[in-house]
Amino acid sequence: MNSILLGQAEAGPQSLLLSRANRHGIVAGSTGTGKTVTLQTLAKAFSDAGVPVFAADIKGDVSTIAKVAPTKFWDLYGTSGQTIRISVADMGPMLFSCLLELNEVQYGIINIMFELAKADNKPLNTIADVSSLLRYINQNTCSISNRYGHVKASTVGTIQRKLLILKTNQTADLFGPTNFKLGDLIQRQGSAGVINILSSQRLIEDPQMYTIFLFWLLNELFRQLPEVGDLEKPKLVFFFDEAHLLFRDAPKMFVSKVEQIVRLIRSKGVGVYFVTQNPADLPEQILAQLSNRIQHALRAYTPAEQKGLRAASQSFRPNPAFDTAEAIQQLGIGEALVSVLDEQGVPSQVQKTKIGAVKIPAAPALNTVVSAPAINSSVNLDLMLPKNEGLKTFVVQETPKAPAKIIQVTKQRSSFGHFIKKCVSLAACVMVFWSLPIAVSFSFAFAG
Ligand SMILES: Nc1ncnc2c1ncn2[C@@H]1O[C@H](COP(=O)(O)OP(=O)(O)OP(=O)(O)O)[C@@H](O)[C@H]1O
Ligand SMILES: [Mg+2]
Repeated sequence: MNSILLGQAEAGPQSLLLSRANRHGIVAGSTGTGKTVTLQTLAKAFSDAGVPVFAADIKGDVSTIAKVAPTKFWDLYGTSGQTIRISVADMGPMLFSCLLELNEVQYGIINIMFELAKADNKPLNTIADVSSLLRYINQNTCSISNRYGHVKASTVGTIQRKLLILKTNQTADLFGPTNFKLGDLIQRQGSAGVINILSSQRLIEDPQMYTIFLFWLLNELFRQLPEVGDLEKPKLVFFFDEAHLLFRDAPKMFVSKVEQIVRLIRSKGVGVYFVTQNPADLPEQILAQLSNRIQHALRAYTPAEQKGLRAASQSFRPNPAFDTAEAIQQLGIGEALVSVLDEQGVPSQVQKTKIGAVKIPAAPALNTVVSAPAINSSVNLDLMLPKNEGLKTFVVQETPKAPAKIIQVTKQRSSFGHFIKKCVSLAACVMVFWSLPIAVSFSFAFAG
């Protein structure tokens, strides 16, 4: 397999070459036009081709892919997947400053704080660690100014007030010693790539943390993976959903960092696919690097939307059979304009394509369906799990009509085995209890 099928066009099937999948891509379109279904199609196809995938699930509608492909769930809050923690030290001064929306002067103080933690070997895992370091800086402005340059107590005070916001909106709880390795995201099950889904329904309520966490992951992949050039297929494909949030009110320094990472990460074997409503949501310099394009319908009424439509249509290599801008507006649900890179790295002529949606069984039938209250009770959970099989996926429905949620359980005990163990230990107790007086009377009899 050297390509993955995207869908059917009049000119024939439209496929994405795996060897060009690291040249990044974009899935765009107005709401309800088919972006998530396309994301699922791509994720499943990459997984079938042995390529691990990472995607955030913002509305809870990506997760159903777990019914048809090996999937692992992650969650910063630890409720719908394996808990991820990241330390402040690992996040680094720039991203931490962006999270707090600091200006350049305040960023300078954060830099000093990181330097100080390193030099004096002070912990910098949690927000509490940040608070105590800032307190320390405030109490020692003179000596620290001598060591690192002028530090104003009032600037430190402003940062402390901003920290308070992190504490009140519970973002602070998401920090702790980093508890996972990037290798955990690049896994295969048999010949299939594992699809990693970051449950983000709650996380997206904190858009700053959502984007900074995803960007941190990308940055870590860039930092830690070795240079490999162009591979036969990518090592990992990373979907960045609601990508416009990444650039909303972002400082210039941050945008140029994103641009640099996106440009360089392809030679580490990572393909990044941005998912957003309008391509104009992304800065020019990022857009220019997204070579594999899937454009669903765009409704363009306002001047801003018209501008977006123009940008979207001009980014395609035209097809003499139709006008690109007109076609984008007329596409039906699940249809898209598709252009991908060929063997020579040249974009293919744009084609109107019917995207082949992944067939996901409607009935929630992974392993079993249980009710949510049963999941909350460990006793019921024990009874529910028939064998000791490691990671298991369940579909949970609170009521028959409620949307299905998918949960994964890692530690499982065989209920039967557990029952036998209890019986054996009870029997042992009974035997000891009964045999003791008999043994005592025997010993008296012998003594007598
Ligand atoms: N390729 C397709 N084939 C068949 N039906 C599709 C396809 N794509 C989308 N649909 C239908 O359209 C609906 C909406 O699609 P989807 O959720 O992917 O839109 P979206 O662009 O992600 O919307 P939003 O911006 O609101 O998240 C799907 O639930 C499905 O019924
Ligand atoms: Mg969607």
